[in-house]
Amino acid sequence: MKINIGIPKEITSGERRVAATPETVAKMLAAEFSVFIESHAGLASYNLDEDYVRAGAEIKATAKELYEQSHVILKVQAPSLDEIDFINENAVLITPLTQSTELINKIKTKTINVFALNLLPRIARAQSMDILSSMSNIAGYKSVILAAHHLTKFFPMLTTAAGTILPAKVIVIGAGVAGLQAIATARRLGAVVIACDTRPATEEQVKSLGASFVSLATSHEQSEDKSGYAKEQSADFYKHEQNIISPYMKDADVIITTALIPGKRAPLLITEQMVKEMKPGSVIVDLAIEQQGNCALSELDKIVVLHHVTIIGLSNLPSMMPVHASQLYAKNIWSFLNYIAAQLQSGTYDKSDEIVKSCMV
Ligand code: NAI
Repeated sequence: MKINIGIPKEITSGERRVAATPETVAKMLAAEFSVFIESHAGLASYNLDEDYVRAGAEIKATAKELYEQSHVILKVQAPSLDEIDFINENAVLITPLTQSTELINKIKTKTINVFALNLLPRIARAQSMDILSSMSNIAGYKSVILAAHHLTKFFPMLTTAAGTILPAKVIVIGAGVAGLQAIATARRLGAVVIACDTRPATEEQVKSLGASFVSLATSHEQSEDKSGYAKEQSADFYKHEQNIISPYMKDADVIITTALIPGKRAPLLITEQMVKEMKPGSVIVDLAIEQQGNCALSELDKIVVLHHVTIIGLSNLPSMMPVHASQLYAKNIWSFLNYIAAQLQSGTYDKSDEIVKSCMV
């Protein structure tokens, strides 16, 4: 049977990405799938209907029509409850999924196979499908560009006839995927960068990007689980960390926070008092905002100025770079789709495979 892949237009407010590009559509057709695109699904990322048609896709005028005729649905944002209603019985949904009980319960009312790509393990075999790493990379870059935009100072050092401008001082807290890209981007713009992470293994990576590493005096065993993710620390540890970073913060122009413990509230590392002690005009970008933030004063999807410090808590930075975000996201999705292509055909899934097992809901 020919499998129809459907790519609806994302309906989440502010979402500009799309789950397939003309390039990945061509790959799907070469793999004997049919592809349906909802009209204007790619418009906000400059992937036009005519480009999809040229790649071999068929445009569907409405979401209803698209869902009715699709066996597999590809999404950028978790589906809404209404979108779940649209999905055919026995269809397959490939998407990131939120932990919303309402959404999970709604999915349970239907016979659909859901692959939640945000649950993929960060293993070498799954790297090409890793939507979280692709999007964190973009967020790390964009966080620095946003900070530079809001900072009323230069990033690089300048020597001019009117005097010397000193380079901006940037602190990056958490040197995972987003943090390392933030460090690299800030360095490229000429800032002096220091970074810290509970995992001592990151020291070498931080230094290789030209930043200094502030040690939090943790051991490998204490800081990392078997899959390489950060372990949660005690309240005393976080107090100790605040004491270590506080003196650096008083001198910083920009702080990018990315500290994450998978499945937990983000560690609270910047208190209101620490913000008060920062230089007027400095900027904090709290990338961990969706996990309630690393800074006590961050507000979800807001840019606030408190104690003369600009605090940016925007949750969807990848959508601010929809062209490259869609390109990478679509490649990740295609990689996964291609990986399970034979299983899609047979309708039976290999639950002993780590990749399939980890994301099949
Ligand atoms: P990651 O797991 O690769 O990196 C997180 C890093 O934080 C790890 O290296 C970990 O060791 C470190 N860490 C944990 N606790 C720490 C502590 N107390 N002090 C210092 N470092 C600590 O995660 P990734 O992919 O880099 O994501 C980072 C954050 O960025 C996440 O909260 C993620 O949700 C967020 N994000 C935000 C986006 C946005 O648009 N706002 C988009 C993409 C990701």
